[in-house]
Amino acid sequence: MPKTFFITTAIDYTNSPPHIGHAYEKVLADVIARYHRLKGDKVFFLTGADQHGQKVQQSAAKAGVPPNEFVKGITQKFVDLWKQLDVKYDEWAETTSERHKKVVQGILQRLFDAGQIYKDKQAGYYSVRQEQFLTDKERGADGQFGPEWGEIEFREEENYYFRLSQYKDWLLAYLSKRADAIIPDFRQIELRNAVDRLSGDLCISRPKSRLDWGIELPFDKEFVTYVWFDALTNYISFAGYDPKIDNYERQPQEFRDRWSKDTLQIIGKDILVPAHGIYWLIMLHAIGFPDAQMPQLLVHGWWNLGGAKMSKSAGNIIDPFVLIEKYSADALRYYLMSDIVTGQDADFSEERLIERYNSDLANNIGNLANRTLNMIGRYLPDRQLRRTEALFETQSPVAGLLHRLSQKEIARSVSYFKRDMDGFDISVANGMPINLTLYCNGVIEEAAPWNLSKQSGTESKTLLASVLFHIAETLRIIAILISPVLPKAAHGIFDQLNWKMELSGGEQRFSLADAEWGRLPDGHVVGKPVPLFPRIEGT
Ligand code: MSP
Repeated sequence: MPKTFFITTAIDYTNSPPHIGHAYEKVLADVIARYHRLKGDKVFFLTGADQHGQKVQQSAAKAGVPPNEFVKGITQKFVDLWKQLDVKYDEWAETTSERHKKVVQGILQRLFDAGQIYKDKQAGYYSVRQEQFLTDKERGADGQFGPEWGEIEFREEENYYFRLSQYKDWLLAYLSKRADAIIPDFRQIELRNAVDRLSGDLCISRPKSRLDWGIELPFDKEFVTYVWFDALTNYISFAGYDPKIDNYERQPQEFRDRWSKDTLQIIGKDILVPAHGIYWLIMLHAIGFPDAQMPQLLVHGWWNLGGAKMSKSAGNIIDPFVLIEKYSADALRYYLMSDIVTGQDADFSEERLIERYNSDLANNIGNLANRTLNMIGRYLPDRQLRRTEALFETQSPVAGLLHRLSQKEIARSVSYFKRDMDGFDISVANGMPINLTLYCNGVIEEAAPWNLSKQSGTESKTLLASVLFHIAETLRIIAILISPVLPKAAHGIFDQLNWKMELSGGEQRFSLADAEWGRLPDGHVVGKPVPLFPRIEGT
């Protein structure tokens, strides 16, 4: 077993500022990382910025700034977004860093020395606008290259190639052996079909005359490496990989503690085939990673707008900064984690964001916390909770509901939560704290504490105290269950419950082991209510 749960995301292109699709992927990774910390695992969460390549060089030229300056500005926007969105990573990858360059060049040199990289001449039709060679696949039904390719010319160019196709059988065998190499299942089938069709090697260079914003090939300074050998390598270069060592078993301990078959790599569906599913897995194999140490790929779907892909050119980009400013980071995190099924596409809708926030957060969780703490302040002397489980002996329907809550509902919700989080079904897992909230709201309606408080007998006083204890205790568990998605609000609930105050603001405050009935002690004094989720009124 690795000592650490290692989780990565795609590194974002720094040719334009972040949009909601980038935000989704990083929040998804952050939620899974937080869930693992909640389970007590040590976590290493790596994300970062993809700073080289043609698109960046072009955008920089358009902006009239040198590429290194240009990427600094855009990279900063991503860093700012992760800070605002509470995306808490352990290491930040920047592909222009020296550390990364050394690993990329080290790997390339090793593969070159082993005869896995060779130089060849390519001749064919070339799109000047898209800066790429075209194949027959790019021809339209009329046999011509469409206008999207712009001016076409015949070109001859020398480049370096990696012997990709030689690994086809290995990749097919590996995929047959490991049914969960790619999640969800249908993506593994898609990848397998693509590997079946694989032919030809991978061009890994561009002559500097055409592109110089990249990492120079260590064996030919007239070329830079293009694009995947640079970008994909980030996953190991920022995790402590030593490029001089061709054997996984002899890699530094720090790296082996992190990297294993349980390494979870989160990517969007557009970069599974061929980039991660073919190039990356083959690269890892070619540089000496055994099958037993191949990572797992979790492939997510896309956020679309009005059914269409978001893109800068279509002008339908959703700016996450604007949404955070308007609705809060928690509102955006919650929406992105609750209105999409992991692996599927979803349509972005601001109305849905407001709707989900108001109904699940403001009306349910927020309202429950608020009314419970208010009632405790009003009905219990000195805001002091009393444990009164002896009451379960009585036959009252409310006592029955409380008994069921403590003995069954909480354990059941927590176990479903674990099952769904372990299966990456975050939106389903989000339903568990909501169910507990609904249950508690039902108990309050049934018990009517405002009536019990007016009655004088001991039994109603005990029942009132018991109702409030049960709900405060359930709120504590609800806070733990929402903490991966809504860390700020979870802290808010703990603060108001006056619970684990010495850890206020710290992540160690929440632990899944604590999500079981009965941790709040008799006599515990709770704090005052502070609104957690102010309702979003019509915009
Ligand atoms: N730089 C490459 C990845 C290199 S990984 C070694 C890249 N960058 S990207 O900025 O275009 O995309 C980064 C991630 O964001 C990808 O996983 C991509 O799928 C994801 N998304 C981009 N737009 C998206 C949506 N509209 N919805 C969800 N995620 C999408 O590809």
